[in-house]
Amino acid sequence: MSEGVAVELRRVTKIFGEVIALRDVSLEIKEGEFFSLLGPSGCGKTTSLRLIAGFELPTEGKVLISGEAMGQIPAYQRPVNTVFQSYALFPHMSVHQNVAFGLEMQHLSKGEIRRRVGEALDMVRLPGLELRRPKQLSGGQQQRVALARALVNRPKVLLLDEPLGALDLKLRKAMQLELKMLQHQVGITFIYVTHDQDEALTMSDRIAVMDHGLVLQVGTPHEIYERPAARFVADFIGETNLIPGQIVAIDRNVVQVGLPGSTLLKAPGVSGGVVGTQVTTGASASTKGAIAQIIAATAAASRMTTARPASA
Ligand SMILES: Nc1ncnc2c1ncn2[C@@H]1O[C@H](COP(=O)(O)OP(=O)(O)OP(=O)(O)O)[C@@H](O)[C@H]1O
Ligand SMILES: [Mg+2]
Repeated sequence: MSEGVAVELRRVTKIFGEVIALRDVSLEIKEGEFFSLLGPSGCGKTTSLRLIAGFELPTEGKVLISGEAMGQIPAYQRPVNTVFQSYALFPHMSVHQNVAFGLEMQHLSKGEIRRRVGEALDMVRLPGLELRRPKQLSGGQQQRVALARALVNRPKVLLLDEPLGALDLKLRKAMQLELKMLQHQVGITFIYVTHDQDEALTMSDRIAVMDHGLVLQVGTPHEIYERPAARFVADFIGETNLIPGQIVAIDRNVVQVGLPGSTLLKAPGVSGGVVGTQVTTGASASTKGAIAQIIAATAAASRMTTARPASA
């Protein structure tokens, strides 16, 4: 195994009846990484998490955790915990009881349980509410309880399936920052599922962009944003607008592309282009200023580069 790999999917395919939920997916998630699975509804994000957690078994391929093939190892014996979108808190139990549940199953002493529950509630900044029931809490507070309940078991890997999905935008933004800080603080590997591009770009060390059961690109937010490897990725990430154009000149490694309205783009580093080739360009606002991206719509359809407007 490669050193420092927390979770590996090795050529995993998952088929449910007629549906191919994952197609030959290979991923390596490093220890301590904040790794996101990003893609539209139905692309296979939850299925990937469930395979890692052991709630499902692959049809083909392997799941490895810390280099160990999981095979048929059941969910409760895997060193991972999951935070679900629905929180799945026990409604009839207090906050304390919800968080303590997993520890009680392990028959730890009362003192140890109290100490660890207190610690976990501190981590998610939720002290003082131990005796409340879930329905007496706000959505954000319930979300924190769900997190505390997962963290209290000290998993090697925390799986988070759209954990902020039920929160309003403002709270979601605040919780994004908190989650990121928490992950930094506890040093646990986070595998985070979201269909929200902004969320993935802000929080992740690396992102896997998925579509239709395929992983299209794995990279840092910067790489995914600035150099999308496929048209779908460019389209899906942010405010990129795809505009058709035509290569009008090639000078060494700089390609000039004519766009409608006689705008000209310069694309350094494109190879294999031919004057007259139809291409697709995408202008996107990035942190570094306006950068336009070119997708060669030819044989090298997925080859991309960046270009700046010739006038800039
Ligand atoms: N138990 C199941 N039986 C049959 N099909 C399933 C099952 N679980 C998932 N699928 C199908 O597999 C595909 C991937 O589903 P998955 O839940 O992984 O998507 P997702 O990316 O999490 O989507 P969402 O963003 O909507 O949660 C979908 O087409 C879904 O209908
Ligand atoms: Mg899902």
